[in-house]
Amino acid sequence: MPPEIMSENRQSQSVEDLEEEYYQISTDILQSFNKFRPPLNIFKLKEDVVRLLPYYKVGDRLSKEQSEELEALVNEGLIFVSRADQQVYIKHISFQLDLVLMDRHLTETEIADIFQTALTRRMEEFLDQPVKAVADKLQTDLLVFTEYLWQDFNRAKALSRRVHPKHTLANHSVNCGLVGMQLYIQNLPDDFRQGPKSRQTFDRVALGFFLHDVGMTKLAQFLRDKTQTLTSEERQKIAKHPLLGAEMLAKLDLKFPEVEQCVREHHERVGGGGYPQKLSGADISDLGLLCGLVDSFCAMLTERPYAKAMAPMAAAAALGGDSKYDPKYSKQLTQYLVNTRQM
Ligand SMILES: [Fe+2]
Ligand SMILES: [Fe+2]
Repeated sequence: MPPEIMSENRQSQSVEDLEEEYYQISTDILQSFNKFRPPLNIFKLKEDVVRLLPYYKVGDRLSKEQSEELEALVNEGLIFVSRADQQVYIKHISFQLDLVLMDRHLTETEIADIFQTALTRRMEEFLDQPVKAVADKLQTDLLVFTEYLWQDFNRAKALSRRVHPKHTLANHSVNCGLVGMQLYIQNLPDDFRQGPKSRQTFDRVALGFFLHDVGMTKLAQFLRDKTQTLTSEERQKIAKHPLLGAEMLAKLDLKFPEVEQCVREHHERVGGGGYPQKLSGADISDLGLLCGLVDSFCAMLTERPYAKAMAPMAAAAALGGDSKYDPKYSKQLTQYLVNTRQM
């Protein structure tokens, strides 16, 4: 074997080894950094010895020339960041979520963390300020999320395991969005992708899960976050949130049937024992029933004023034994937990 080929082989193997601890930065990622003050330490590959040498240290400032040089080095594939800086990187990408779709060096778990961080922050912003401008930003982020899932439905599993343990309205909304999409995908017919409007439906269903409790924003903050048992008067006020939410959708430009079904029907129950409209049987949409199950399941996983947080399997078992929920969906929930060994 000629010596130059030998050294090339050795180099490519070694670069792979490096990738366990470092990942290569693409031009898209570089452009998302502050040009003169990148947010994390940067390393340059010294090709002849296949070693990464420190190139830039956080806190320093790059000159115009250095910044241009860095760009050229990135184009040549010589620039890396350390996986030890993962948290900084995750936070950085979470502000520009579409980078997730471009960065091939992130693992599924890292991506799940990015989505959870980004969507929770966006959800908090929206619930604080439930106006169209913020709804648009949420919708943009959710389009990245649905695009990521659309490319490979199996990706929903890793995401659905990211459940916030602490109850806040934003945490709960994100939990429902991540778990809800997994169950929804599990339920799709094999030829779903071929449908002419299937992608649109998919996007809107995600919006529905994330926004099902949007009507809670119309209630006083202390009611939303109250940790003691509610009085019957307070309960009556809260019982209005599905309708209050449905009324908000037009103004937010989100009045799609899928979103409306989630918002309006997630507290309706099979036998007519739910609220606000006491719908029963076929009057409740499939998506409304699924959203209702997902909502209850996610609520049971977090500590609530009247009950302790439950383990996923115990929560699913309780829902499976409750005739208020559609057995078709509660069985699928249990199946999913068994398959992914989340007990
Ligand atoms: Fe609700
Ligand atoms: Fe809810």
